[in-house]
Amino acid sequence: MAPRAPLIAPSILAADFARLGEEARAVEAAGADWLHVDVMDGHFVPNITIGPEVVKALRPHVKIPMDVHLMISPADPFLEAFRAAGADIISVHPEAGPHLNRTLKQIRKLGAKAGVVFNPSTDPGVIQWMMDDVDLILVMSINPGFGGQSFMPSQLAKITALRAMIDATGRDIPLEVDGGVTPETAKQCVAAGATALVAGTAVFRGGPSAYAANIAALRGA
Ligand code: DX5
Ligand code: ZN
Repeated sequence: MAPRAPLIAPSILAADFARLGEEARAVEAAGADWLHVDVMDGHFVPNITIGPEVVKALRPHVKIPMDVHLMISPADPFLEAFRAAGADIISVHPEAGPHLNRTLKQIRKLGAKAGVVFNPSTDPGVIQWMMDDVDLILVMSINPGFGGQSFMPSQLAKITALRAMIDATGRDIPLEVDGGVTPETAKQCVAAGATALVAGTAVFRGGPSAYAANIAALRGA
């Protein structure tokens, strides 16, 4: 199958936090497909960002789906709050809790799409026996915690492996990549089978007047 243009999910981690609503509207107007929200707890990853209240405050600013990436442990006690705040996709790391399958089912029960996120060291096999319960797969091409890191080429083979696992299901499960995505690395991700790309630095660099060109450059992959 020929690669198709990827969905672009700007990570607000690289936005101006003092003007988040405005920044969210600006990337939507610039062609963003999803808004990627990085939630960190200072425990699962060595950084602290935002919680459900910020998702709730952002929700009325955009119509595009909010793609909430939970880098928190445990995640289960907070799923309901993020869904109530307006999260459309909620993704969790398998390492965040003892029962990944139960967590995914809970996310679906709340009415959101359920995503699984792979750290660079996490084996794709962790979802092998539960593909029916997964709505999105997110491959980290950096160690989570901070924006602005360099893309790890070692993760391209994992994207290829997950592409094959998705194709075998016959379902159109989005395969998203997060970390160090630039127009250059975007091309490699799409060639390996990615259909959605998260980008912080590569979208927000240059300020609002650059967002449309930045997004187009990533999509041109
Ligand atoms: C890191 C986050 C990423 C990050 C990407 O833990 O999950 O979404 O913001 O930032 P860039 O695109 O700058 O690598
Ligand atoms: Zn992320």
